Amino acid sequence: MTPVPMTPLHDDFGVEVHDVDLRLVTPRTLYPELRSAFEEHSLLLLRDQHLDDQSHLAFGSLWGPIEDRSMGRNGPVPLMDPVTNRRADGTIAPADDLLTLDLTGNQLWHTDSTFLPVPALANILAARVLSSTGGETEFVSTRAAWAALPTHLAGRVRGARLRHRLAHSRATISAELVARHLAAWPDQVWPAIWTNPVNGREALYLASHAVAVEGLELGEGQELIAELIEFCTRPARVYTHHWRPGDVLIWDERATMHRGRPWPYAEERTLASICISVTEADRSR
Ligand code: OGA
Ligand code: MN
Repeated sequence: MTPVPMTPLHDDFGVEVHDVDLRLVTPRTLYPELRSAFEEHSLLLLRDQHLDDQSHLAFGSLWGPIEDRSMGRNGPVPLMDPVTNRRADGTIAPADDLLTLDLTGNQLWHTDSTFLPVPALANILAARVLSSTGGETEFVSTRAAWAALPTHLAGRVRGARLRHRLAHSRATISAELVARHLAAWPDQVWPAIWTNPVNGREALYLASHAVAVEGLELGEGQELIAELIEFCTRPARVYTHHWRPGDVLIWDERATMHRGRPWPYAEERTLASICISVTEADRSR
């Protein structure tokens, strides 16, 4: 592999990768380097990129199957899923519109797609239209947090399994959103620890979608989940990404959590997002 220049984003995790044009990455050229950095650092930033939908999807497909976030609405071929407050008719959705409210669901600390039958390996998120202020995206390493977790808590987590449901995280926002998301998928249950199959590093696999700990009384489980999320997201562990045009972030859903930050909702904020589903080779060992 060719050495690619990288600089750290945070003490715990994350690197900015320099001098790579994502349109030119192929399975043999630079993908191995990016993949290896991804396994090691969990979050990659590439600046000054020029991805349109087609090149974004082509780059994404190097990582694995592209997740169909539309649940088939878009037909058989997965399409881009813009994270945007711009409606189909071109207008900006008001702050209290269901579209905006659904986006504010991203402001809870989470991991993408833990509620899907096939969870996500990665998200590849690209800036398109940025607000004048706010709209940052924040990340933490749940690998670093797991390594630092006090023994008494770690003992309760090892071997635990968490139940995930999208409607659970949306319940804190709007009853209408719950109704919309409730029947979408059956609950998914995943081990609370994901062991990276390449390097053996363990990470907490956690999200605001986690509704219960299997075998624990509901309140007790929710307290444990809240305590873990609080521990993982203490200010010193957070990397705050201030978006610039051309930025692309790629993160490992198996070893991080993230959240969006508010912005002036009268302004457009549009990011282009695709998630990659895990394959057998990416699963916990
Ligand atoms: C996402 C997400 C956060 C943001 O796209 O999965 O959580 O800042 N985005 O928009
Ligand atoms: Mn997300």
